[in-house]
Amino acid sequence: MSEEVGPEPAVFKEKLLDWYRKQGRDLPWRNTRDPYRIWLSEIMLQQTGVATVIPYYQRFLDHFPTVSDLAAAPVDAIIRLWAGLGYYSRARNLHATARQVVACHHGAFPSEVAELASLPGVGRSTAGAIAALAFEKREPILDGNVRRILSRLYAYEQDPGTSSAMRQFWRWADWLTPETDTHDYTQAIMDLGATVCVPRKPLCGQCPVNTLCLAREKGLEQDLPRKRVKKTVPVVLKAAVYLSSDGQVLIRRRPLDGFLGGLMEFPDRAVEDGTTPEQAASEVLSEMGVTAALTRVGRVRHAYSHFRLELVAFCGHLSTRPSPAKDAAGVWIDENTLSDQPLHGAHKKMVSLLQKDCNNEDEE
Ligand code: ADE
Repeated sequence: MSEEVGPEPAVFKEKLLDWYRKQGRDLPWRNTRDPYRIWLSEIMLQQTGVATVIPYYQRFLDHFPTVSDLAAAPVDAIIRLWAGLGYYSRARNLHATARQVVACHHGAFPSEVAELASLPGVGRSTAGAIAALAFEKREPILDGNVRRILSRLYAYEQDPGTSSAMRQFWRWADWLTPETDTHDYTQAIMDLGATVCVPRKPLCGQCPVNTLCLAREKGLEQDLPRKRVKKTVPVVLKAAVYLSSDGQVLIRRRPLDGFLGGLMEFPDRAVEDGTTPEQAASEVLSEMGVTAALTRVGRVRHAYSHFRLELVAFCGHLSTRPSPAKDAAGVWIDENTLSDQPLHGAHKKMVSLLQKDCNNEDEE
């Protein structure tokens, strides 16, 4: 389906902005163009509703008026202020980002989406929102609200959860995003999704773009977006251990003749029914012939063609580096050369997870 079947962008923008300027919500992060404040609000709003966020947002700014204040704070103080908002990786990422902005960008948030998206906890849509809201860049956003609006506007009847659906939604989001007024446009489309084009029983009578909506034209507004089709694939749960010593890390090669043969990975082991990831991780250590205190760092998920792997990541440190048991095919390599290693997908994600955490040396 091409963009041309949907609304004319200029008409969409005009109707949306007229409505927003009369009926848009007055929210505390809307009267600023300070990228720090906008970034803070967007991170808080990622998984939490507006009403819950407002007092937290204000309290955070009272304690940490600038990104440098946040970067200088102990992570514990940030987590304490965050308590109650949930999804605590966001609080750790806040701290890591603040430090990165101070250390790498002289305390000024970058304005380009690619740089914004490289900050911990900032995905493509959040990066687009910050670029549009703080810097008036012409950048689309695609959060859950915008996906719902687009699937109705274009009467998208297929499974909205596939990667090809996501590519299509990004193309439409980009096509509709105007060259100018991107701050107001972005806030407006968020408001439309939050207050009018709501998941169940959309308020089409109040919608400023109802005459442009193909779902309404076809009588499908209650039926779209379609429910995501959930594929049932087996899930394999494993524990994997990042074991380091004096700048070196232990990895091993998978058997050449098996699945992902010859690729490298951190030592891991399946978590059998009735056992815990902690038990599996300590069995990994025995298998490698080493002992160490382990810290659980988090979980990564990776879909392979016929199953999904969930990897519970642990890290441990050894003050002396023993040779691993011979039959375990382990090898110590320089941590700085990890990105040159042919790690397979889940274990690459584990490196990213650990690197995020390593930005916060004082938190674990
Ligand atoms: N959800 C995500 N970002 C938002 C914003 N800036 N205003 C209202 N709701 C949002």
